Amino acid sequence: MNTAIDSEKIIILDFGSQYTQLIARRIRELGVYSEILSCNTSYRNIRKANPKGIIISGGPESVNEKNTLKVDPKILESEVPVLGICYGMQLMSKHFKGSVNTSMKREFGHAEIKLNRGKLFKDIKISTLNVWMSHGDKVTKLPKGFKKVASSKNSPIAAFENHSIKKYGLQFHPEVTHTEKGAQILKTFVREICGCQTKWRPKNIVEKLVDDIKKQVGKKKVLLGISGGVDSSVVAALLSKAIGKQLECIFVDNGLLRKDEAKQVLRDLKKALKIKIHFSDSEKFFLKNLKGKKDPEEKRKVIGKNFIDVFLKEAKKIKDVSFLAQGTIYPDVIESSGIKGGKAHVIKSHHNVGGLPSYLNLPLVEPLNSLFKDEVRKIGLSLGLPKSLIGRHPFPGPGLAVRTIGEITKEKLDILREADHIFIEELVAANLYDKVSQAFAVFLPIKSVGVVGDARRYEYVIALRAAETIDFMTAKASQLNHNLLNKVSDRIINEIPKVSRVVYDISSKPPATIEWE
Ligand code: XMP
Repeated sequence: MNTAIDSEKIIILDFGSQYTQLIARRIRELGVYSEILSCNTSYRNIRKANPKGIIISGGPESVNEKNTLKVDPKILESEVPVLGICYGMQLMSKHFKGSVNTSMKREFGHAEIKLNRGKLFKDIKISTLNVWMSHGDKVTKLPKGFKKVASSKNSPIAAFENHSIKKYGLQFHPEVTHTEKGAQILKTFVREICGCQTKWRPKNIVEKLVDDIKKQVGKKKVLLGISGGVDSSVVAALLSKAIGKQLECIFVDNGLLRKDEAKQVLRDLKKALKIKIHFSDSEKFFLKNLKGKKDPEEKRKVIGKNFIDVFLKEAKKIKDVSFLAQGTIYPDVIESSGIKGGKAHVIKSHHNVGGLPSYLNLPLVEPLNSLFKDEVRKIGLSLGLPKSLIGRHPFPGPGLAVRTIGEITKEKLDILREADHIFIEELVAANLYDKVSQAFAVFLPIKSVGVVGDARRYEYVIALRAAETIDFMTAKASQLNHNLLNKVSDRIINEIPKVSRVVYDISSKPPATIEWE
């Protein structure tokens, strides 16, 4: 890549920190392109990428162990500015002959540091900061030529630097929001020390991606499966801008979507974009093949296989297609490239449309594969997609199938659709939809007694789930107000005769998962 916006890039060498992707996102939020590379990338390869600066991430290892991960020493000897965070700082300390002590006691959580006129802190007007620490090892003797620029009770050398060779180390994590002025520290590094400009902005990104698509696709036709989710909608918007009528979209209604979802998605996309959508109403086909299937994984398999069958059937009707577009995003690339620390991302690891490319045997167009989810959203908005589409909670590929426990029937799905609709409607009315990460109803195939008027009712149970999470790997149940929950429950039981009871799921992930199946 050598266009104007990514010629000024920061490379992050990943030593396995849980925060590596967060560092990359923070740098991009500052308007500077960043890319994550494996910790064992050689200086030669880094030179080819020509970064303006390098950040060495934290990691779970100890620099004092024998076979520990190392950085190519030429990187630290080069003129390129380097910021080492936690393990990165300790590697720097070892390289420049400082000392690092391994302590049995990990320091984890908040700490107060005292600043001491470091170049990285030059725009910070206060002398103490609350920061986030997460380490076992710490630097105990400064390397030669380095100066201490921050200290805390537990880490007498909480930050150091040698400004003449542009090498800086932080024991704490500036990328974490708990660190006061963390964004400012990173800004000083990328903007002032590395000299990057702020070109990584939605308008420029769109221009670059549209350009790339045009170059890749030329006058040929591209096929895209759309689901109504954020990623495929943004791909549709980008492709529509880049190649207009050469884009052909397929939208499969598997009968497992939410209330009026298919209609709404078609309406929203057609209104925002001038695209051709081939709509396949396949509810009956999916429900027929799901009959009698109770096991969650078996249901997922049937849905995945059916999706491919329907998609291929639709695709065959479209002539002369040369490419298949996909909404792969950067975290998926990091995960599959095996970069150290690229953790399995739950959402996509069991994504059920993953098999398409091999069946279609078409080269891929993946315009979002260098973007994080928040960037995808920003771009979507700048391309004119409605907020209702961009801000939607994630919805699993197998849809309501994994929210209808056990065997699926149309009756159960319809009950669930109504209950889910009421829950979401009330969340939106209470201004809480955007505050929770994912909320939905679950159909429980057990019956429970209730009284409605004078009559006894023996009907199904609906569970409500609302979770708050950053990465969907861990989550907490939202602490929704009881009045709101009561209102939702009353509405569900009064408006849906087949439901006699509503419960609220308070389990955290782990040990529970977000979905019930
Ligand atoms: P869990 O239930 O694993 O969910 O805690 C984490 C996130 O992944 C979504 N999810 C899926 N997405 N196919 C998908 O495309 C699936 O089979 C699937 N199962 C769970 C879930 O909605 C949540 O956002």
